[in-house]
Amino acid sequence: MVHELTWEEIPGILKIEQLCFKDPWSERMIENSMKSGLDTWLVLAEEGAAGYCVFRIVADECELLRIAVRPEYRGRGLSKKLMDQLVFYSRQKDVKSIFLEVRESNERARNLYRSYGFTEEGIRKNYYLNPCEDAVLMVCRNI
Ligand SMILES: CC(C)(COP(=O)(O)OP(=O)(O)OC[C@H]1O[C@@H](n2cnc3c(N)ncnc32)[C@H](O)[C@@H]1OP(=O)(O)O)[C@@H](O)C(=O)NCCC(=O)NCCS
Repeated sequence: MVHELTWEEIPGILKIEQLCFKDPWSERMIENSMKSGLDTWLVLAEEGAAGYCVFRIVADECELLRIAVRPEYRGRGLSKKLMDQLVFYSRQKDVKSIFLEVRESNERARNLYRSYGFTEEGIRKNYYLNPCEDAVLMVCRNI
């Protein structure tokens, strides 16, 4: 059900980006991220892509860069399947800490992260644009 993103699936990911974020990544950004070899993209497939996440592991740290589930598939626990894989990959690579930033107003995502043991460790003032908003820095050290 969860698999690594293929090049053919990029249009589906782009669509989810546009549906889920006010500052969506462009096709080029996704392609560059894939080409970099630094990032892992995981897709959750239902009939086509229902959600995805992308994260970067460097040494013993992981950064969750994006996670999203299409609106019509929300509230069914699908984001947890992606988070489970994030934890699985992190354990495989002996990651000690997972970091992420989240909009202060994004209570759904903050609840999700808290349920995986993330704690709030700081605020990045005016980190986001469109609209301008602070980011909450969250960290999980208990992987
Ligand atoms: C955040 C997001 C990925 C959650 O996806 P989802 O598949 O609907 O979430 P799940 O059904 O797996 O729920 C997981 C947990 O998220 C939290 N959550 C989900 N929906 C919620 C809601 N409406 N209100 C409050 N918390 C909610 C809960 O903690 C939930 O766990 P629980 O069901 O045991 O209480 C989804 O809302 C989304 O794509 N949002 C837009 C993109 C985004 O904001 N990404 C995060 C950027 S940092």
